[in-house]
Amino acid sequence: MSTQVRTANPPLAGDPPALFEDAGLERGADGSLRLGGVALEAVARDAGTPAYVYNGSAIRDRFATLDQAFDGLPHEIHFAVKSNGSLAVLRILKELGAGADIVSGGELRRALRVGFTARKIVFSGVGKSESELEAAIGARIGSINIESVEELAVIERLVGRRSVEYPVRLGIRVNPDVAAETHPYITTGAGGIKFGVPVEQVVALGRRIAANPRLTLVTIAMHLGSQLLDPAPFALGARKLIELIDEVRDAGVRTIESIDVGGGLGIRYRDESPLAPATLAAVLAPLVAGKQLAVHLEPGRYLTGSAGVLLSRVLYRKRSGGKDFVIVDASMTDLVRPSHYQAYHAIVELVSRGRDSRIVDVVGPVCETGDFLALDRPLADVEPGEYVAILCAGAYGSVMASNYNTRPRAPEVLIERGRYAVIRARETVEDLFRGESINPFDG
Ligand code: LLP
Repeated sequence: MSTQVRTANPPLAGDPPALFEDAGLERGADGSLRLGGVALEAVARDAGTPAYVYNGSAIRDRFATLDQAFDGLPHEIHFAVKSNGSLAVLRILKELGAGADIVSGGELRRALRVGFTARKIVFSGVGKSESELEAAIGARIGSINIESVEELAVIERLVGRRSVEYPVRLGIRVNPDVAAETHPYITTGAGGIKFGVPVEQVVALGRRIAANPRLTLVTIAMHLGSQLLDPAPFALGARKLIELIDEVRDAGVRTIESIDVGGGLGIRYRDESPLAPATLAAVLAPLVAGKQLAVHLEPGRYLTGSAGVLLSRVLYRKRSGGKDFVIVDASMTDLVRPSHYQAYHAIVELVSRGRDSRIVDVVGPVCETGDFLALDRPLADVEPGEYVAILCAGAYGSVMASNYNTRPRAPEVLIERGRYAVIRARETVEDLFRGESINPFDG
């Protein structure tokens, strides 16, 4: 296959209209790319590159769509903080009425710092430490979703020894053994995977929780996986959860208030047809009818994924081994999804000048062959010094950044009502030295 495909009007190249719409991106008459009404080139010049930029109004639109889809059902939306933990982004979601789905003591601190109502915070995770559990108990969060009998034993010990006057609200995160079709690294609800409590242990666990006056079982939860496009696994999983809730209730446990169906709603990265929230609501409604259960959701990617772009500057172009490379200043340390999951992220020029495009690999400066943002991708013939935008980078982007190669993490910028502001400053190299000693044994 030739790597030098050159056509005046290549079918794959150019701006992807559906992705633009999802993000709130527009191409101005002068060819410049705008997000939420703001010219991204100005943002790139001001904030430097690489830089993450989020469109606040796209996040608000997503939240509204999801919330309205579940209008007919009692529901709560807990934003998965792991997907985008920026305080300003969390603040937007809190203002919209979201709660927070957390996975660590650090995320608990983030959620509390932003002012999420403790009762609307849910905490999942297979390896919660004692101090994390103590913090969650102390904060009186909505539910600690236990993932093993061993974790329950630790909680029993903790509530026994401290003078906890209130019943601590627990959930059981079940592994419903439903295979969801997505990348194997982001499948979480199938058998043989570390997450959740096996179905056959749930009733006994529910009884054990109910027997302790300092504990109360309020929810049964699952999370099947991420980037799901099909409602079928949700239906299968929810059906299993409802059966379990019925069994636990039959065993005399009367405190369950909600069914937590987790996150996982997929978004469009390329040309997928995402699962519409209304479809999910329609699938779940008959299952929960008459059950006196609120539906809890834990979306991350759905709310912020499409709303963010990663801006990067072209450093070099080079031709080697029969391939064309565009070397940019963003790398796998900024956005690891392409190299870690072979994920597709569309890349577009910041100023379009009607140029030809050619098939290139878009790669970063990191010393790893796996450091790429796109492989064999048609891209306009951008010149060094120009900028590109990597799309759909608002979830699992900045939060997964690393400092490999002593690369400071990129800043984050928020666009709201036609204005933009840095919401997280670029890390400095000095930040990265913090806590290190050059010669600890000297003197
Ligand atoms: N709830 C629980 C318990 C989770 O483990 C997750 C994600 C979510 C909710 C939110 O899932 P979402 O709605 O965002 O799909 N780094 C990967 C995704 C890992 C997802 C981990 N758990 C990626 O970049 O695709």
